[in-house]
Amino acid sequence: MAPPPSSAHDSSITLDVNGDKHTLTVDHRTTLLDALRERLDLTGTKKGCDQGQCGACTVLLDGRRTVACLQLAVAAEGRAVTTVEGLAEGGQLHPVQQAFLDLDGYQCGYCTPGQICSAVAVIEEHAAGWPSAVTDDVRPEAGPPPLTDDEIRERMSGNLCRCSAYVSIVQAVSRAAAAARAESAGTTAAGAGEAA
Ligand code: FES
Ligand code: FES
Repeated sequence: MAPPPSSAHDSSITLDVNGDKHTLTVDHRTTLLDALRERLDLTGTKKGCDQGQCGACTVLLDGRRTVACLQLAVAAEGRAVTTVEGLAEGGQLHPVQQAFLDLDGYQCGYCTPGQICSAVAVIEEHAAGWPSAVTDDVRPEAGPPPLTDDEIRERMSGNLCRCSAYVSIVQAVSRAAAAARAESAGTTAAGAGEAA
């Protein structure tokens, strides 16, 4: 049970993080990043620049990626927050996590949780047909562009890596995206088979 707010600058809020509800009292100026790290001990989400420049603090908010250092914790109430700690399921790493591991998509690892959360969203954004700044044909009827290395670099450009592990990061995102497409095609084919 969170203590009641003690000043006009505090509020009691309930955050839904990785499917768990946490009630806490926060100063209204507390960022989602600080609430996750300092209050909930979810230190997987990293603080790099603390001003929206590096992407180290990327989390998913209602499934969309966002930088937690520019979100107020009070504004995240009632929304589903997913951090890197919430991606694995049933003891199995998320396919994006596994691809980063298999392809050494990191060196020191500090940017990696943000890279992985961002990549999860990139793959979903691409599958949904969202164009990027390097997409040639943005007409809706053109469908999703091929997820080339240039597309991945552009879509992941908000996540900086001081170790410059970019080559492996792009490979990991590409592999995870291909696996997601194959799984989706398999599901669709199985569904069509059942319907036949
Ligand atoms: S710590 Fe949030 S973008 Fe750098
Ligand atoms: S792996 Fe070190 S900053 Fe990216």
